[in-house]
Amino acid sequence: ASTLGAAAAQSGRYFGTAIASGKLGDGTYTGIANREFNMITAENEMKIDATEPNQGQFNFTNADRIYNWATQNGKRMRGHTLAWHNQQPGWMQSLSGSALRQAMINHINGVLNHYKGKIPYWDVVNEAYADGNSGGRRDSNLQRTGNDWIEVAFRTARAADPSAKLCYNDYNIDNWTWAKTQGVYNMVKDFKSRGVPIDCVGLQSHFNGNSPYNSNYRTTISQFAALGVDVAITELDIQGGSASTYASVVNDCLAVSRCIGITVWGVRDSDSWLGANTTPLLFDSSGNKKAAYNSVLNALNAA
Ligand code: G3I
Repeated sequence: ASTLGAAAAQSGRYFGTAIASGKLGDGTYTGIANREFNMITAENEMKIDATEPNQGQFNFTNADRIYNWATQNGKRMRGHTLAWHNQQPGWMQSLSGSALRQAMINHINGVLNHYKGKIPYWDVVNEAYADGNSGGRRDSNLQRTGNDWIEVAFRTARAADPSAKLCYNDYNIDNWTWAKTQGVYNMVKDFKSRGVPIDCVGLQSHFNGNSPYNSNYRTTISQFAALGVDVAITELDIQGGSASTYASVVNDCLAVSRCIGITVWGVRDSDSWLGANTTPLLFDSSGNKKAAYNSVLNALNAA
């Protein structure tokens, strides 16, 4: 196959990208995105500050721009994200305790009511674990509502849209030996054993000098999969854009049947949250295919 999406589809997987609504008028951007990718994540537009800017008043204008573009072009979406300590609107940042817990529940219900049956995967909870060696939860206003906030978020999401696959998504859970990875693994194991509804784990996979790709990534993917959840690579970027590292990531996913797809976190280097000079993506800032692109395509086609 000659595009990333079609090549991934040969093994029943998808290949996606993050899309920013403000760039949908850029023909080079939409041309590449429409040609190459078949799964779409809104880079910011489905986050809490965007969808509920005032408490109880939902706004899906920019989220729907992306949803409509994706749907009109035959693409599915990953919803990102329903409960997160970051990008909370001011009103939510100022809440605590039972008022915040109820606001989280209302937010999940409001967003999933709007997209019920339309978005097959949701990052229900994002980045709830701490960096470093504790293996424990990150301190946040949501965490301070009680340790059960994550399972309440998943149960709320399941009830609101039973058709959606519900994912836990985080960064720095790619290296199997890291405490954070083990913390999330133990949470998923616990959820599966107690019947808390969780269907997938998202490995963001932002690789850089401090968090480099490690060959135990394949172990991480297979260990999560062995718990009975799907694994998705949700926000892939590799600073420096190493073609061989990109190939390793793709091959590690292809090696595990429950690794269902890969999403890169932007189209061109100039679209990356990291800045164009870090060259982390598959297309250069002019929209040309990079060596990393060819390496990914070849790996997918070899599957
Ligand atoms: O929209 C405003 C604009 O009106 C304003 O003029 C401008 C000035 O700073 O800011 C714009 O908002 C920015 C927004 O991106 C849209 O460009 C925010 O400041 C900026 O903080 C925000 O960054 C996003 C970041 O999440 C925030 O947490 C990045 O685009 C987005 O790529 C990044 O994505 C996250 C994932 O959601 C979760 N995992 C990590 C990943 C990378 O940080």
